[in-house]
Amino acid sequence: MKEMWESRYSAEDYAYGIEPNTFFKETLEKYKLEGTILLPAEGEGRNAVFAAKKGLNVLAFDISEEGKKKALKLAAKQNVTINYKVGDFFNLDIVNHKYESVALIFAHFPVSILSKYHKKIGDLIKPNGLVILEGFSKNHLKLSEKNPSLGGPKNIEVLFSKESIQNDFPDFEILLLEESNVNLSEGKFHNGESSVIRFIGRKKEK
Ligand SMILES: C[S@@+](CC[C@H](N)C(=O)[O-])C[C@H]1O[C@@H](n2cnc3c(N)ncnc32)[C@H](O)[C@@H]1O
Repeated sequence: MKEMWESRYSAEDYAYGIEPNTFFKETLEKYKLEGTILLPAEGEGRNAVFAAKKGLNVLAFDISEEGKKKALKLAAKQNVTINYKVGDFFNLDIVNHKYESVALIFAHFPVSILSKYHKKIGDLIKPNGLVILEGFSKNHLKLSEKNPSLGGPKNIEVLFSKESIQNDFPDFEILLLEESNVNLSEGKFHNGESSVIRFIGRKKEK
């Protein structure tokens, strides 16, 4: 899996473009976030750079060294600073701190770690902090089988449903949780009418 991402990100072009994901951008513009935003599986940095330009401290991580290189290059070009770690989430220092918000944008982890990662990520968010998530839904699979330009995982178990997200983030008040069809236009790999889950949750106070 790591090899696939290293190969994809070693190309000159940005696989998902350099513009932020639309839902991420709109959510950041609606909620005036402060402090540090955690960006798991951040790839080539399009969302990290946007968040940094909005004045947030950014801490991103991924398994891809090539992704990190492209992200730092994009940040330098746009005159912002981001912090980006590469490695296994549970072995990174990231898990020893708490954050004001987290955004999971097409962060599709292998099924063996998916819920464990979501639950740990939820634990790292401070009371009243936000989780912002957009990812492909289970219903996306039949669309992507017909149209490979849509992208997205081919294993239904790693795709999301409203129920799976609700189960993985039990400590969050739901501000938005919907499944919808959206027309993606993100670089070379996310193009066309796709089925996504969108979630915004606010961490409950204990
Ligand atoms: C579809 S890309 C999305 C990248 C970015 N979030 C975006 O929207 O542009 C999925 C990303 O998940 C990362 N990834 C896959 N498994 C991972 C893991 N176990 N830990 C961290 N990142 C992972 C890949 O390297 C890849 O960058």
